[in-house]
Amino acid sequence: MNNTTSSTEKNSEQNTTNENSYQPLSHEQIRNFVAEDDSLEGKVILVTGAGDGIGRVAALTYARFGATVLLLGRTTSKLEAVYDEIESMGGKQPAILPMDLETASYDEMQKLERLIDKEFGQLDGLLHNAGILGALTPLEMYDVDMFAKVMQINFTATFKLTQALLPLLKDANNGSIVFTSSTVGTYPRAFWGAYALSKQALEGMSDIFTQETQNTTNLRFNCINPGGIRTNMRAHAYPGENPMSLKTPEDIMSAYVCLMSNESIGVRGQVVELQPKD
Ligand SMILES: NC(=O)c1ccc[n+]([C@@H]2O[C@H](COP(=O)([O-])OP(=O)(O)OC[C@H]3O[C@@H](n4cnc5c(N)ncnc54)[C@H](OP(=O)(O)O)[C@@H]3O)[C@@H](O)[C@H]2O)c1
Repeated sequence: MNNTTSSTEKNSEQNTTNENSYQPLSHEQIRNFVAEDDSLEGKVILVTGAGDGIGRVAALTYARFGATVLLLGRTTSKLEAVYDEIESMGGKQPAILPMDLETASYDEMQKLERLIDKEFGQLDGLLHNAGILGALTPLEMYDVDMFAKVMQINFTATFKLTQALLPLLKDANNGSIVFTSSTVGTYPRAFWGAYALSKQALEGMSDIFTQETQNTTNLRFNCINPGGIRTNMRAHAYPGENPMSLKTPEDIMSAYVCLMSNESIGVRGQVVELQPKD
């Protein structure tokens, strides 16, 4: 799925054959989505990497638009800070789910599914946002242990967590799963090594899940490519760049809310670029 325009066209074609389908929004409509105060009311949404960067702001934003947010991450103190912010702004009581995606077992993820079922009785949205950069170096010299770590956190754990949570997500009226890709996930680039490969794998997984589920469930799978955003990860990737020249996580939240809201029910198998180059 290298070309976002053609995947939109492909999606429109498929939807004409499905009586229950909705007209998909264009990528521009997704980027410019204007949420209502209750756009996510009644939804339970899990965000990975919710303690920092884009994930932190996505969690706060989902809460602001009415969702109950489940905060998953590896640094509990950061998740607690987000929890407190949600409480102080009057959002629905969130939950903290400490989990290190480098080491968590599939069994733990299945236990998490049972816990969410018991405590919340539903899961409507899953934002896969956690990720690491790894090394920026030629593949010839890429440290193999680092390669495995990047693939584990960015891709393998994402697959396992998706599969473990699928029973709940399939039960949702209009479940939405969003993977976080990158420009190098769509267009491979020298020296981006395991990070680029992990993001390519995510885009492929989203496409395969879409093909496998679109005729039998309401569940939708899409990818977001945020583009360059002012976070710690970006600063590590581009140390000479002026961070003030970049958009902030807050600037790109329209698309994050849109893909979780019922307005995007017809959007499936897309890679939505949030800062396309004209
Ligand atoms: N910023 C950009 O310009 C940009 C561009 C394209 C794509 N993206 C993608 O956007 C997503 C968010 O990036 P960001 O810029 O916000 O990065 P960030 O500021 O570095 O935040 C990454 C988040 O992932 C969490 N995380 C890392 N390893 C984890 C693990 N083993 N288990 C659980 N959580 C873990 C981090 O938790 P801790 O804080 O506890 O370490 C943190 O909350 C990533 O998938 C990234 O690839 C970002």
